[in-house]
Amino acid sequence: MNTSWMPDELVHAGPEHLDPGFVAGFDRKQGYPDPSDDIAELTAHGLGKDATVVDLGAGTGRFALAAARTFGRVVAVDVSPAMVASIEERAAEAGLARVETVQAGFLTYGHTGPPADAVHTRHALHQLPDFWKTVALHRIAELLRPGGVLRLRDLVYDFPPSRAAEVFEEWMSGAADDPALGYTAADYAEHIRTEHSTYRWLLEPMLDRAGFDIVRADFASGLYGAYTCVRR
Ligand SMILES: C[S@@+](CC[C@H](N)C(=O)[O-])C[C@H]1O[C@@H](n2cnc3c(N)ncnc32)[C@H](O)[C@@H]1O
Repeated sequence: MNTSWMPDELVHAGPEHLDPGFVAGFDRKQGYPDPSDDIAELTAHGLGKDATVVDLGAGTGRFALAAARTFGRVVAVDVSPAMVASIEERAAEAGLARVETVQAGFLTYGHTGPPADAVHTRHALHQLPDFWKTVALHRIAELLRPGGVLRLRDLVYDFPPSRAAEVFEEWMSGAADDPALGYTAADYAEHIRTEHSTYRWLLEPMLDRAGFDIVRADFASGLYGAYTCVRR
């Protein structure tokens, strides 16, 4: 098959995510996000010690390492070799040898073993332009069992185009000053300019078309979406 039309996901991964120096300070910059709500959301859908959970765009493994204490099989997937190395180092330090790592992207990850019970992905899908999001969501649906759960968090725009400037202005006004301790106004501006956050009213039909029912959607600041979806 001619696959010359497939993008190189490393090129779209965000250059900072490939930089071991940035990766070393990544959790601090992000404010050490707490994955407990996401784990609780999956357990509320019946997932437990027998469950297989795949984390796509796993970063430094904050979700995957915590999830490995609750679920049977956890596969942490990231396109960045530096992120994968970081997960492996932290898993070894925590004695969590059960966390499997795979260096791959949304568009290339090949799931092995029984279909997954859940996919988690946080703040990573926006790396892909919309066409490629639909391909990624279709691939996620294919690796889940029917009734499997997608827990998706991302920067998703929940406002009409006419309010974009106003929402972005407010977002940037609350940004961090120190890039080591948080996302700065320049980081947010770069995100808007160069990454592919999409509108809620475009993302939700994509989820539907990929075969998901949205059973929960929570938004903060018109910018941060958290979805629980069930594969039909
Ligand atoms: C903002 S970070 C979020 C990391 C982690 N999910 C978290 O919430 O801490 C985005 C992650 O997505 C990864 N990434 C970027 N493009 C990707 C792709 N096409 N497939 C898989 N992972 C990707 C990056 O390497 C990075 O680790």
